[in-house]
Amino acid sequence: MKKLLLIAILFVVPLFAQAKIDMEVPYIPYKIKMGKGSDVVQANCLMCHSFGYILNQGHQSHEFWHKKIKKMITVFKAPISEKDAKVINNYLFKYYGNGKMN
Ligand code: HEC
Repeated sequence: MKKLLLIAILFVVPLFAQAKIDMEVPYIPYKIKMGKGSDVVQANCLMCHSFGYILNQGHQSHEFWHKKIKKMITVFKAPISEKDAKVINNYLFKYYGNGKMN
């Protein structure tokens, strides 16, 4: 029993030690291209994360961006209207698209 307790303590101690590390996450204000729909993207996509997530994907298809917006709405519960989703999709395809529909 004592052995078990010791093992349990050994496992727990490093976890507490990790939590004490003073870590600061910097906020980087990534910029997106200005154009038709960029205001709608700003209003709908900045509330949870920076534009870094979008820029990191590189240039992608219309379908790819459609799925990403859908994922934000269904998985992460982003409150984005269908009308705005369409505007955002067209914006992302125009400025961060690869010319392919799917
Ligand atoms: C309700 C919060 C929320 C909103 C609003 C939101 N996202 Fe996200 N998004 C997330 C979360 C959470 C992640 C995942 C973060 C992680 O995995 O570290 C994410 C990740 C991403 C990624 C990375 C790829 C991936 O599949 O995880 C992309 C691209 C992205 N979001 C695009 C968008 C776009 C475009 C919009 C606006 C239409 C948007 N997000 C709005 C919550 C949100």
